[in-house]
Amino acid sequence: MWIYEKKLQMPIHIVKQDLRVAKYLVTQYGGPDGELSAALRYLNQRYTMPNKQAKALLTDIGTEELGHLEMIATMVYKLVKGATAQEMRAAGLGSHYAEHRDALFYSDANGNPWTASYIQAKGEPIADLVEDIAAEEKARVTYENLIRLTDDPELIKGLQFLREREVVHSQRFREALYLVREDMVKYKNKYEIDNVEVKDMFKDTNITPKDILE
Ligand SMILES: [Fe+2]
Repeated sequence: MWIYEKKLQMPIHIVKQDLRVAKYLVTQYGGPDGELSAALRYLNQRYTMPNKQAKALLTDIGTEELGHLEMIATMVYKLVKGATAQEMRAAGLGSHYAEHRDALFYSDANGNPWTASYIQAKGEPIADLVEDIAAEEKARVTYENLIRLTDDPELIKGLQFLREREVVHSQRFREALYLVREDMVKYKNKYEIDNVEVKDMFKDTNITPKDILE
């Protein structure tokens, strides 16, 4: 279960409307490398992680990504707040206005709606953790791109914070990958010993499965 805390992970103080930046920023709301993708990816993959540390890590980071999603939502909402239909149209957001007015919607910077095909769950922890590391690196690059697309110091401050968190997440997934690999080696040994064909390989020797495991 989750307990909701009614405050942002980091306060956002945006006072100036900026529809063009909102159009780009929304990609971290509903784009392929955005916070929704990240949260749903990790909170789903956690079930098939092979150890408690990896399960807990995916739960922690997935939960934090929901907090980041809320920060991005606040930024986009404040950047768009009060815009007229004509202003939205002039900023390239006419299609968004037609479908959603000034409501938030999960899409990328080109207006493509969020899709579950942005995320994966292979049921194999190394494949999933490598995906997670790549996702964090892509999110980091997207934040760096967005920082270059705005000159609002408050927005830059928030985006820099989120970029730094992606760097931390990437490092933590790398640590989890290392631990899971160690577990997988043990698991693989056990699997091979239980496998009839492998047992047969040793049938004419004095070697027992116990010797190999030790
Ligand atoms: Fe992240």
